[in-house]
Amino acid sequence: MQLLDGKLVSEKIKQDIAREAEAFLRANGRKPHLVAILVGHDGGSETYVASKMRNCQQVGFDSTNIHYEDDITQEALINKIKELNQDETVDGLIVQLPLPKHINPEEITEAIDYRKDVDGFHPVNLGRMQRNLPCFIPATPYGIMLMLDYYKINTAGMNAVVVGRSNIVGSPMSILLARNAQPGNCTVTLTHSKTKNLKEEVLRADLIIAAIGRKNFITADMVKEGAVIIDVGINREISTLTKSGYKLFGDVDFDSVASKSSFITPVPGGVGLMTIVGLLKNTLAAAKKEIY
Ligand code: GUN
Repeated sequence: MQLLDGKLVSEKIKQDIAREAEAFLRANGRKPHLVAILVGHDGGSETYVASKMRNCQQVGFDSTNIHYEDDITQEALINKIKELNQDETVDGLIVQLPLPKHINPEEITEAIDYRKDVDGFHPVNLGRMQRNLPCFIPATPYGIMLMLDYYKINTAGMNAVVVGRSNIVGSPMSILLARNAQPGNCTVTLTHSKTKNLKEEVLRADLIIAAIGRKNFITADMVKEGAVIIDVGINREISTLTKSGYKLFGDVDFDSVASKSSFITPVPGGVGLMTIVGLLKNTLAAAKKEIY
């Protein structure tokens, strides 16, 4: 079993990004700039956005966090997005999800200029990704592809089973793994809450992407010997034993599964750190106008 070390890989790639950000500053007299809009006080979202802002600063980007109370209207939010779409000092624009119930996330996603959509959630980016055209790829699937690439895991011909069909991870992941590319060229099964015989489906997998959002959901009896395991879960539980006041659990029961796997990501220290790298790479590409 080999650990897929998100800390090692993310630090390496972030060094490259920092060098490119410096060159961008020299050439353009300003830094790449990411704006994140956060609505309300979801504990997870506040932590993730703070981490995104911190990582921007680490690699030499400007970052702005616009924080609204959860009673902001959809109209006011869309007006702000339109203003930022026009602002030439803003390269990347993200709205942290989930949003309060009175705001339609689809309408928010489509309001963002797809050329600044560094989350890769806009239908234009989604469609272009499916066609294997240059686009912004959602940060978590992008980070996972960078991880598979770094460890030179040849995924061609693998049975990949994605557990969870979210717009943010499972669904785009299934598209990327099926594309004619490396990593890619997998035979993909996208499973979800209505899947029959989930255990049997997962048992056939050479590559498991666990993105279901349930602590320790994937257990050793569901895993084939030698499988590659990517754990996307960030399940937070309150803990008095850690400095932050909570402890993170993956979707994979690491202790029982690790010895059966060929490669496995830990939680924390795996996919979460790679997600940040995906977002930073997209923001740099937006600033450099590499895609649009
Ligand atoms: N919520 C959970 N993951 C993400 C993400 O990658 N981007 C945004 N905007 N919201 C999220």
